[in-house]
Amino acid sequence: MVKKILFVCLGNICRSPAAEGVFKQKLKERDLEKLFVVDSAGTGGWHVGNLADPRMRETALSRGIELTSRSRKIDESDLYEFDQILVMDNDNLAAVKSLIKDHKSPVNSKIKLILSYSKNSHLEEVPDPYYGGQNGFDKVIDLLDDAIDGLIDSLMD
Ligand code: 4NP
Repeated sequence: MVKKILFVCLGNICRSPAAEGVFKQKLKERDLEKLFVVDSAGTGGWHVGNLADPRMRETALSRGIELTSRSRKIDESDLYEFDQILVMDNDNLAAVKSLIKDHKSPVNSKIKLILSYSKNSHLEEVPDPYYGGQNGFDKVIDLLDDAIDGLIDSLMD
């Protein structure tokens, strides 16, 4: 059975496209591409249709990851379409959960903070790099690289 994974941030131009790229790269390295469908989305719609932020694309490329996705806004139907929804911070978590109409729905348990899968970091959230410097973009990739190893391990259990 193919599993469908969705990464979510605010604008879908920095953190979640990076998560999508890191996840796809790791699937390729482990020859697991056939087992997963991967996508990303934003809780806000300001950048719909745009490629990822050039700073994020450049940082990912420096680690051998090409980001090609275009921004889209999350839709209620994504809650049912995807098996796991990994968000970057608590604001994203609240925004995605606000799309659920029935608060007892099993959909609730699909939605998690990506850093809950970290092996080496105790941070809870992936900090938004948009208004900061290069360090923030490097940090995004470092945090995602670690957490996505943990995520893939849990998915393959
Ligand atoms: P992201 O970063 O949520 O990681 O894609 C942001 C991108 C754009 C904005 C904020 C955060 N913005 O305010 O336009």
